[in-house]
Amino acid sequence: MKQLLLLTLSVLTLGISYNCKKVSYKADPSSVKLSLPDQPYEYNKVNTSIGKINNYYEDFTLINNDKATLGRVLFYDKALSINNSVSCASCHSQDHAFSDVVAFSKGFAEKQTVRNSMGISNLVDERNIGFFWDARETKIESMVFAPVANHIEMGFDRIDLVAEKVSKLPYYAALIQKAYGTTEVTEQRLRQGLSQFLFSIVAQNTKFDEGMYKGFSNFTAQESRGMKLFTENNCGTCHQITPSFSNSYNSFKFANIGLDVVDNDPGIDGQYKIPRLKNIALTAPYMHDGRFKTLEEVLDHYSNNIQNNPKLNFLLKANGSATPKKFEFTAQQKADIIAFLNTLTDKNLLTDKKFSNPFN
Ligand code: HEC
Ligand code: HEC
Repeated sequence: MKQLLLLTLSVLTLGISYNCKKVSYKADPSSVKLSLPDQPYEYNKVNTSIGKINNYYEDFTLINNDKATLGRVLFYDKALSINNSVSCASCHSQDHAFSDVVAFSKGFAEKQTVRNSMGISNLVDERNIGFFWDARETKIESMVFAPVANHIEMGFDRIDLVAEKVSKLPYYAALIQKAYGTTEVTEQRLRQGLSQFLFSIVAQNTKFDEGMYKGFSNFTAQESRGMKLFTENNCGTCHQITPSFSNSYNSFKFANIGLDVVDNDPGIDGQYKIPRLKNIALTAPYMHDGRFKTLEEVLDHYSNNIQNNPKLNFLLKANGSATPKKFEFTAQQKADIIAFLNTLTDKNLLTDKKFSNPFN
């Protein structure tokens, strides 16, 4: 009897322990109710101030609405973590333009990520750059399962078990059937569904984008001054005026901006990806380590605090010298640049149902 009790106890603990990285299944997946529309949402269209425009995937084909719908469910499904504790959305929340509000996010076992969670939008521009702060992944379908496998984020060190686990969740059969014509759950289908959903998140209904069509007649005087300062001070050389404000057309994709004299995080050869600035007002805290809580702090950095890092980008060095540049923006100029950065916000993304949690 005592032995039986011990055995039962140890089976129970094994089942719930994360350390043994045992896949854990939902108590009763058949009770899960998804709220999905009868006709899929239009993931293949982007809302802009001049109406809807087509939305393309990594390979320039139109986004597939049924695949993206599958991806939406996967993005919000905690089953994608080894112990059903976190989903992609835990660190990429719609309320914050798919970023997290803390410098480092909590993964499946309460351990913290080593970098700041990035906001997700306009990933199509990332094709020529790569994903993550060090741009280490260049193809979206190979990137998407990196967080699933990550030992801090979602903990599936055996990625082959993901499709097996998903195939035991009854609510996926219809989604996969719609997207692919059969109910077979394969790793490739899951990767592609997630990727299609991620690519459908595009911030293009912004005051800035509207301004592009109107010669910026919609801008206030302050926003216009901010845009001028942004261009004149080389902000726009790195964060290029493209749909995402990343650097897909630049000759260099990474840079060191002198946050420290010596970096803790090696990045990619001492440099970090030049991040997108679309929705930047919504994705605090800032930088690869989330060190700045506000855009004011970011502007203070560029203004007076650039450090003499050996990898410091030439654009941030004083003319013809090896020392860091001091932009010495006035309080007014900082406020102007921030007013401009605020024109890059697409609020629609925060409430658009097609990007919301279907498990609610
Ligand atoms: C525990 C928190 C956490 C979870 C869960 C998580 N992420 Fe992330 N995500 C991060 C962090 C941190 C980074 C930056 C990592 C780095 O640069 O090394 C990131 C980066 C990304 C990027 C790169 C964006 C860019 O511009 O390069 C994408 C895309 C992404 N995550 C998608 C996902 C998807 C899809 C899932 C679910 C399968 C997911 N994430 C789950 C924290 C998380
Ligand atoms: C040499 C290229 C370069 C220049 C010039 C530059 N930046 Fe950056 N910017 C970067 C890089 C790289 C990062 C990320 C650095 C890191 O995390 O280590 C960054 C980060 C940022 C961030 C935070 C992004 C985030 O998601 O956390 C903001 C905001 C920003 N820059 C605004 C500006 C403004 C405003 C200017 C002009 C005053 C400017 N940048 C000039 C390369 C540049």
